[in-house]
Amino acid sequence: MSVIATKKLGAVGVEVLDVGTDRLLNDPEVPEACMEALEEHGVLLFRGLHADDATQVAFSRRLGEPARFRGYANPEVMEISFDPGNPNAEYFASNDYWHIDGAMDEIPAKASLLSARVTASKGGETEFASTYAAYDTLSDEEKERYADLRVAHTFEAVQRLNYPDPTPKQLAQWAKRPPREHPLVWVHRSGRRSLVFGATASHIVGMPVEEGRALLADVERRATAPDRVLRHSWTEGDMVMWDNRGLVHRACPFDRSEPRRMHRSTLVGDEPIE
Ligand code: OGA
Ligand code: MN
Repeated sequence: MSVIATKKLGAVGVEVLDVGTDRLLNDPEVPEACMEALEEHGVLLFRGLHADDATQVAFSRRLGEPARFRGYANPEVMEISFDPGNPNAEYFASNDYWHIDGAMDEIPAKASLLSARVTASKGGETEFASTYAAYDTLSDEEKERYADLRVAHTFEAVQRLNYPDPTPKQLAQWAKRPPREHPLVWVHRSGRRSLVFGATASHIVGMPVEEGRALLADVERRATAPDRVLRHSWTEGDMVMWDNRGLVHRACPFDRSEPRRMHRSTLVGDEPIE
């Protein structure tokens, strides 16, 4: 019998049924069982967990190394909100587009854990789609054609989605983040393959820009077709953990004058995209 009981949620993801904060912190077998379930299912939902920051971070430490963020009271917890006091508020608008956390970093995050503290009265769900499944459903001809493609990821590509007419100051600010090149097909250490795309993907290296963008848009459209997507509607206290190596995710729109607030801890990755 598995250490944790799970129930399938949809296209990806399972709900973990029998783990509360006590087992998260103390059960010696739960961390490994969660990482295995994450590899298999992509998303784990702990409904009504009500983990406070200390609990979320302590659990994150049992799973790996929590990333640190500048500007927050607890550096291992990034607060996701549009509160003007939030140091990253202007960038969170881009969470509305399909993305991989840390796609611009040398090594993207391994996993992210997100707890709902204040939910939106309408909208504000989070959606997930498997990038492993995105690869698996390519035709053989596409698998061959995509095998050697490389994609340029830029911060400007993401930001332009929200700020299509940037000021020179914004452009200069965005340019501080160096562009990153990744293969379209990520061959994981496990041997599995996934597709790497999303809001940071600007164009395909060595291909006319418009042609590359059309290809990337087609990949994204197919990977995130409604029947491939898990949409989680949050209730305060829910915690969701996702495998950032094999999924894209996005926030659904809501009234940004509402105080929706999510607390995220992030596990540092150890697998470069190659
Ligand atoms: C994130 C993110 C989505 C959301 O925290 O990385 O993309 O629904 N959040 O807030
Ligand atoms: Mn994200």
